[in-house]
Amino acid sequence: MSFEKTILVTGGAGFIGCHVAKLFVENYPNYKIVNLDKLTYAGNLENLTEIEDAPNYEFIKGDIVDETFITDLFEKNQFDSVIHLAAESHVDRSILNPNEFIFTNIVGTTNLLNAAKKLWENGFEKKLFYHVSTDEVYGSLGEEGHFVETTPYDPKSPYSASKASSDHLVRAYAHTYKLPVVISNCSNNYGPNQFPEKLIPLCIHNIKNNLPLPIYGKGENVRDWLYVKDHSDAIDVIFHHGKTGETYNIGGNNEWTNIDLVRMLCKIMDKKLGQNEGVSEQLITFVKDRAGHDLRYAIDSSKLKNGLGWEPSLQFEEGLEKTVDWYLSNGNWLDNVTSGNYQKYYETQYVQR
Ligand code: NAD
Ligand code: DAU
Repeated sequence: MSFEKTILVTGGAGFIGCHVAKLFVENYPNYKIVNLDKLTYAGNLENLTEIEDAPNYEFIKGDIVDETFITDLFEKNQFDSVIHLAAESHVDRSILNPNEFIFTNIVGTTNLLNAAKKLWENGFEKKLFYHVSTDEVYGSLGEEGHFVETTPYDPKSPYSASKASSDHLVRAYAHTYKLPVVISNCSNNYGPNQFPEKLIPLCIHNIKNNLPLPIYGKGENVRDWLYVKDHSDAIDVIFHHGKTGETYNIGGNNEWTNIDLVRMLCKIMDKKLGQNEGVSEQLITFVKDRAGHDLRYAIDSSKLKNGLGWEPSLQFEEGLEKTVDWYLSNGNWLDNVTSGNYQKYYETQYVQR
């Protein structure tokens, strides 16, 4: 079978990556999608059952930090484009152990850039290296203002510093070697398939299991939440219509303090579990704050909206309900990902706080 393009998606077994892989495999049968993933604790092939037998899809297990493996993979598959999502993604883990973040997020990204540069050395026409990044590279906002694409970088955690470093490398390859790149920086995602270490799925898991809901500090930190399928739609739009060399911010225009968000989630969970309103809220437990906790993120995505016509499609309450429904009807998924080392991680993070 011959395909119009062969696209490497990295990190396609993770939370956002699985939605991106599914969207591209299902909507573009003329593209071959190769999903490269190391299957760390955050990667899960159960996220991809809908497409595993699709004729335009292939999964390869591998590590982006392995330079020889990556160079050979590009040579063998002759990729036209890369959509790079593989990363260590959890801020708390980066505080516990920054080294994995340096290897995967910085060295791994550099290996991919070198392999793309080598493969495409005879011409960059119709080639694209799409780097998926985060709003955390911009640092922390006070009570006012929004991140725009020109906001100076000011990363504060080992995670965001490693992502900022990878963004700088992508831009440096574009400037120095003329590699065709595009970068997007997105706000907090939520939705199906997110590993239950992040705030929303952690709280869903804990309410289900009658465990405490750990709120860092006073719960006054603010995040701008976006449904994961809106993020993958934005990636689709930018991949096809974004201008090479540009950066696009992606956000939900949907700011919530953590405590207000968790209270709303508790109400939805009470309703879905058929229990009296107020039962889940009793699980809220204020715990020691995250070290260096960024106060507020808020994204201005008007460049993407005005330039390429993308905007979020879901209201937050609707998105949260869909998310809760997914977790409640995918109990096996939740049980599987919380077996093994999860309990040990949970104890390190919360019981010892
Ligand atoms: P995730 O942790 O759920 O998934 C990461 C995936 O990368 C996993 O499947 C994992 O197995 C894979 N991976 C990790 N190290 C690897 C390596 N060395 N080689 C190959 N594969 C490896 O992450 P996510 O939340 O889906 O985030 C995906 C991307 O989007 C990341 O680059 C992240 O920085 C960015 N991002 C995330 C959010 C968010 O709210 N989750 C927001 C903005 C940007
Ligand atoms: O902004 C984009 C970023 O959003 C992504 O780049 C990251 O990959 C992603 O993990 C996310 O980072 P956050 O640190 O904002 O997400 P997290 O879900 O870990 O935390 C959300 C907020 O909730 C944050 O203010 C910390 C707080 N929190 C988190 C956890 C896990 C708690 O109060 N209690 C918790 O148990």
